[in-house]
Amino acid sequence: MLERLDQPPADKILALMQEFRADPRPDKIDLGVGVYRTPEGVTPVMRAIRAAERQLWEAETTKTYTGVAGEPAFHAAMADLILGPDRPTDRLAAAATPGGTGAVRQCLDLIRLAAPEATVWLSAPTWPTHQTILRYLGMPMAEYRYFDDESRGVDFEAMLADLDRVRPGDAVVLHGCCHNPTGANLTLPQWGEVAALLEARQALPLVDLAYQGFGDGLDADAAGVRLLAARLPELLIAASCSKNFGVYRERAGITLALCAEPAAARVIQGRLGWLNRQTYSFPPDHGARLVTMVLEDPALRADWQAELEEVRRNMLALRTQLAETLRDLAHSDRFAFVAQHRGMFSRLGASPEQVARMRADHGIYMVGDSRVNIAGLNRATVPILAEAIVKAGV
Ligand code: LMR
Repeated sequence: MLERLDQPPADKILALMQEFRADPRPDKIDLGVGVYRTPEGVTPVMRAIRAAERQLWEAETTKTYTGVAGEPAFHAAMADLILGPDRPTDRLAAAATPGGTGAVRQCLDLIRLAAPEATVWLSAPTWPTHQTILRYLGMPMAEYRYFDDESRGVDFEAMLADLDRVRPGDAVVLHGCCHNPTGANLTLPQWGEVAALLEARQALPLVDLAYQGFGDGLDADAAGVRLLAARLPELLIAASCSKNFGVYRERAGITLALCAEPAAARVIQGRLGWLNRQTYSFPPDHGARLVTMVLEDPALRADWQAELEEVRRNMLALRTQLAETLRDLAHSDRFAFVAQHRGMFSRLGASPEQVARMRADHGIYMVGDSRVNIAGLNRATVPILAEAIVKAGV
């Protein structure tokens, strides 16, 4: 029976990781998958996570099962981090998931259960896994325009015009901050306009929040999702701890579901646990527990925030250096967007041929749509990338 299946279509980010590994050139540069790297090229275990891990090793007395939706302490700590102290706790349901992708999948499953006919709207472009999961689930999907290829900023007018076609009961996927793959983000007043439109259209927002703390800071990066939570009756959030806690392989993520009424939140709490049970039973605990320890302990939390801030500033410094080097080499301001984008990624606007040329001639690996991971650079490699970009004629 199994021979009936053929190879699945390649995942372009995972395929790129493999191609990079197979390239023998010692000076190759990996700007592909979204992992943070220090200037020395290391993806570190964050200090507070390491300290929590030590404490846990000493203190943990059992590895018996957690709750099927994970630990309430993790839910509370993450809800506080994302939605802040003013969140309507009685309207919130939550479940720990295997990473942010697990949460995205769970949110989409929930939408499919509640409204199989709902169209799920994605930004064009978006993280490719949004599309592949939707396709796998057989859910209707549509795109709204988001990125302006000319300015490399948000084409807000086009976004609103497209979202104006959303029907009551549809769902709209929004990137909470640090848009992947473009790096172009909504301003707070724009979040307000999107909230008003979704409210008028009676559409459900699903916010994918994978980079809180990587853009403008922990609170600033959550301002958009907090605004939605304050204004809308219902909201789904799929959040990841992979990047901002550096626990990629531990698979720590969370679904938060804001419901219209406390009674509905109790039902959805049951559904989230039930969904976990149907797919993998209990969610992974180790990463979620470390994150909870860090968030609950004032000293660990302060150290985590300090290190996260260092990470954020490193990326901003690389952005500034790249924008300035490109301005000098190209004698033009057309790359100023690199310094304005936020988070790990920027979409350069290079054609697939130009991306291929940069790979062939300079060993620079970026996703085919010209998404670069800024954190894959360091002070020494920025000029190499800048030269390659200008030589390729971008
Ligand atoms: C990325 O976009 O590179 C990251 O979110 C990692 C992934 O799983 O694709």
